[in-house]
Amino acid sequence: MLETLAKPAASARAPHDPAFGVYVHWPFCLSKCPYCDFNSHVRRDKPDETRFVRAIERELSHVANEIGARTVDTIFFGGGTPSLMQPKTVDAILAAVAQRWPIAGDAEITLEANPTSVEAENFRGYRAAGVTRVSLGVQSLDDAALKFLGRLHTANEALAAVKIAQAAFPRVSIDLMYARPEQTPAAWQAELARALDIGTEHLSLYQLTIEADTAFAALHRAGKLVVPDAEAGRALWDVTQEACDRAGLPAYEISNHARLGAECRHNLVYWRYQEYAGVGPGAHGRIGADGARRATATERSPERWLAAVEARGHSVITDEALTSGEQADELLLMGLRLREGIDTARYETLSGRAFDPERVSALVAEGLIEVREGNLRVTAAGFPLLDAVVADLAA
Ligand SMILES: C[S@@+](CC[C@H](N)C(=O)[O-])C[C@H]1O[C@@H](n2cnc3c(N)ncnc32)[C@H](O)[C@@H]1O
Ligand code: SF4
Repeated sequence: MLETLAKPAASARAPHDPAFGVYVHWPFCLSKCPYCDFNSHVRRDKPDETRFVRAIERELSHVANEIGARTVDTIFFGGGTPSLMQPKTVDAILAAVAQRWPIAGDAEITLEANPTSVEAENFRGYRAAGVTRVSLGVQSLDDAALKFLGRLHTANEALAAVKIAQAAFPRVSIDLMYARPEQTPAAWQAELARALDIGTEHLSLYQLTIEADTAFAALHRAGKLVVPDAEAGRALWDVTQEACDRAGLPAYEISNHARLGAECRHNLVYWRYQEYAGVGPGAHGRIGADGARRATATERSPERWLAAVEARGHSVITDEALTSGEQADELLLMGLRLREGIDTARYETLSGRAFDPERVSALVAEGLIEVREGNLRVTAAGFPLLDAVVADLAA
């Protein structure tokens, strides 16, 4: 596959041109982490990867028939744990995408990986299949924290996996979770400094969130798990921004930091509210350009997904035409997560109204947003209050 993908770019695009991404969901994990509400499932028997590939091929055909010609700029294997897939499975899925749409020569192809030694053994195979970027779920560099988070790897094992990834892929990102119980700003600062020293071009830094219907939610309800309050969370946030700014990896999105040019192009497709197809169990898509845009979602259960695709060629359970107003709301919600902000004309065309000048002036006066030459963005001071800013502008 690598040779097919390395062909000269037929359609290299400027960053702001409409881009098209393909998301592939791999729904299996070796164990369920107590904080996680992603569509991930633990099964005693290994899945039949050949059967899954055939089903993904059929689902890709279904989307291709719906949307027609496109050039693929980004592909993202997310999960679950895609690094449990055999390299030949990734290769077959990439070939299946390439059979339906041309893939840009400079396409970004990301795979989410868990940093265990077993999974690291697959990295060279993924690279040979055409993967250009891995996103490693390191989560913490502290063994006690990793145990608390239910992770199956130690900090040293994760560091070794990152090294193997750095040798195998041109681009590597790591995920860390902070705002863990009793985590002090000094401890987080030291942990983050070690993570920055690893030298990856991209870091995703998430504050631990208690999601409904997780093991952590039950502990939280019972008062056995206490997360930092808003003030403590803010101190940890400030440490995060200062350390990453100093290291040359400023936030380009509320939880994502990168060197200039190393932003995740696939996630930018979501945040810039561009077009993407989603295949695999529980995958979401936004297909069609502005004006006629559809929100799609597939069956979440791997077994029901497989049965539906084998019976009728796809497993789409939601396919809704979004009204212009709904699109405007989504554009605001996604776009304001980005440091670059949104194009106000695009928002106003979709919503059919201008932003309320009084609200805008008040937010500008408070230093929470900036408006300049048709662009509206949230400031560094506004980011910690993003939800309130979005709600205010959407009202
Ligand atoms: C799709 S998930 C996991 C990918 C991969 N299976 C792993 O565990 O490394 C992507 C990232 O979301 C973050 N995440 C998941 N649940 C979270 C939660 N409740 N709070 C904060 N971050 C979370 C983790 O950092 C995780 O790496
Ligand atoms: S965090 Fe990752 S490994 Fe853990 S259950 Fe969720 S998707 Fe699976």
